[in-house]
Amino acid sequence: MKNVDMQMHVRGTSQFVDDLAAPAGCLHAALVTSRVARGRIRSLDLGEVLAAPGVVAVYTHRDVPGLNEVGHVLKDQPLLAVDRVEYIGQPLALVVAESHLQAWQAAARGRADIEELPAVFDPREALAQGMIHGQKRILVSGDPDAAFEKCHHVVQGSLSSGPQEHFYFETQRALAVPTEHDTLKVHASTQSPGAYHRHLAEVLGLPMHKVELDIRRLGGGFGGKESTAVWVVAPALAAFLLKRPVKLVLPRNHDIATSGKRHPYEYDYRIGLDEEGRILAYEVDLYQHAGACADISLAVLGRSFLHASGAYRIPNIRVRAVSCRTNIPPNNAFRGFGVPQGTFAIEAAVTHAAEVMGVPAAQIKRTNLAGDGDVLPFGMVLENTNSVRCWETLDARVDLAARHAAVAEYNRTHTDSKRGLAVVPVCFGISFAQTALNQAGALVNIFVDGSVEVSTGAVEMGQGVNTKIQLVAARTLGIASDRVRVHTTNTSRVPNASPTSASTGADLNGMATKYACEELLSRLRRFAGQHLGHDDPEQITIREGVVHLAGKPTELSWEKLVAAAQWARVDLSSHAFYATPNLHLDPRTERGRPFAYYSCGTSLTEVWLDCVRGTYRLESVEVVHDVGRSLSEVIDRGQVAGGVVQGIGWATVEQLRYAPDGRVLTGANAYKIPDLKSLAPHFAVTLLENSQNPNAVCNSKAVGEPPLIHGLGAWLAILDALRSVRRDKELPSLPLTPEKVFMYLHG
Ligand code: MTE
Ligand code: MOS
Repeated sequence: MKNVDMQMHVRGTSQFVDDLAAPAGCLHAALVTSRVARGRIRSLDLGEVLAAPGVVAVYTHRDVPGLNEVGHVLKDQPLLAVDRVEYIGQPLALVVAESHLQAWQAAARGRADIEELPAVFDPREALAQGMIHGQKRILVSGDPDAAFEKCHHVVQGSLSSGPQEHFYFETQRALAVPTEHDTLKVHASTQSPGAYHRHLAEVLGLPMHKVELDIRRLGGGFGGKESTAVWVVAPALAAFLLKRPVKLVLPRNHDIATSGKRHPYEYDYRIGLDEEGRILAYEVDLYQHAGACADISLAVLGRSFLHASGAYRIPNIRVRAVSCRTNIPPNNAFRGFGVPQGTFAIEAAVTHAAEVMGVPAAQIKRTNLAGDGDVLPFGMVLENTNSVRCWETLDARVDLAARHAAVAEYNRTHTDSKRGLAVVPVCFGISFAQTALNQAGALVNIFVDGSVEVSTGAVEMGQGVNTKIQLVAARTLGIASDRVRVHTTNTSRVPNASPTSASTGADLNGMATKYACEELLSRLRRFAGQHLGHDDPEQITIREGVVHLAGKPTELSWEKLVAAAQWARVDLSSHAFYATPNLHLDPRTERGRPFAYYSCGTSLTEVWLDCVRGTYRLESVEVVHDVGRSLSEVIDRGQVAGGVVQGIGWATVEQLRYAPDGRVLTGANAYKIPDLKSLAPHFAVTLLENSQNPNAVCNSKAVGEPPLIHGLGAWLAILDALRSVRRDKELPSLPLTPEKVFMYLHG
């Protein structure tokens, strides 16, 4: 089934926050932000802001009735700065005006007298100065020191990976409407209903039952709307104080300049292999460039940390990870949630080792590919991964040996251009690494006309979670999917919801929906049995909207059954709850089973490189990925392709520039995301056949993030081509922009 929103998206009729009819008297909010990366605030001069046309009010931290705090994990992020600033773009004051334009024009007039302090923009330097968030994490398995002694080949190096701007179509925004009894209804573009609900209540000093947060859909989130609540809480504060509706919509360049990105990382790695190419030991240091507040960085770091071994079996390993506090806007989640960064280091290390050993990287990868029965560094045993089957399916489709030979032959016979290829196996743990978050609720109402309405905590952001939930409900109840509608995500219908992230949206909320529907079904079957004069509800089934008795259709339609059941006073509403079983991770020993299962796949990426100009072209991308028994093939193919392309963007063309003072220099005009032209002419996605997954709803597997990792193939394939030209230089970092490629070749 296709995404239920598709027709509306194409026609432009789907509603986003800014499409809601503005209530009468609606005002617009904007933020005065810091122009200094680090300093002490001496004074704020907001006189000119107040005097600007259309301005209704200006607020500072003194006006916050509750807690002036929006820190997601640690309480280190004031909504409005108090006495110091830690990054350029940090909110200092909130302006409310009659129009959006007036609000932002007035905000630009804000002046702050700030005593500048030395700012830090380099994660290693931050670490040297003791500027870190939380604690360092260390994971040791086996005996890496002894193992390195025994290795035939030991290769080491340092690398970095860059930031990535989310570039969701819809920038950060919210509309807050005061309602009676000092309550507030907020329509927001956020992935985190539960957490934002709490932030709203805390800042306003209200009990949570006085705040209702409603989310229809997001124009993309990609992780960027999961944790930084500033742009949702700020208009709510203004609405609450003024008792008028207030909307805040971040202008695009303000969004790029002040919101978090995918975390850049620095890496030091050392890898050791035996004569046959088996990885015996691996050691990696992950330095996360987190920004000024902890935000969600420690959770992202945790996932990089737990994925440091990538898709490989590594018996002896030492992983150290630290979140470095720097003076840039706090970075946050981005599709993959740290896994791309953790995987990048091991992929680079393996490739580096293969180069030194003079064998194809794919050979080392295949030798060490982790599969069922292998034990991950934190003690979890892999099951039901299909990792080997994915590799073999890819090989059968493309003939890896022949592709290697073709590239080698091309490179032997060409000097002005080269080709390169890379095979990337993906092994991505599914579940929130924070066990507590693996829970979801669903409320299913059957109306007397037989139509069904489902509410969950899942947020629709283009990934099709609502369509999947609708399918699960229809399938469970035995009715057509157009009888089911998925309602908005609303904190009053499903409270305390976990964010829709870590690719668990459909897994968790789908399962809660299934449970709620099963409860309703069992009530209806019991009732139908009585109604049809048959005592055994086991004999009753509902198929395609018709009640069946002992497998044979009866006269009783779904609609008649529901109407009769309601008249007979059967409860047609059910709430259910799902908590992923058997998850744990001991923070002291870093041992446990933090993930319900793994999402695996393998891909081949091929590139062509113009050695004179430094430009390159993706020639072919072949992806095989395991999505279990797909709930919707159209959606899953879209998610795989979209994820891969976003990964390719991160690995190749997406680049942000910062001025020496920490300002973001890249605006929408200069930030490149992959477009049709940057896609490979051959781009094929194969969903692994005959896959079952007992650990998620209806045997499906999560698909939102894991395929992004295949995008690393672009970096690796370009690297492969580059290294066939020259190897007398260090490995270049990620992304490999054409400029960087040119400098590598000729600089
Ligand atoms: N797909 C679209 N179209 N838009 C998005 O914002 N976010 C991704 C992924 N796919 C995203 C997307 C991210 S970061 C996550 S975690 C998952 O969708 C979340 O959805 P799911 O858990 O329901 O798969
Ligand atoms: Mo996705 S980065 O986990 O929202």
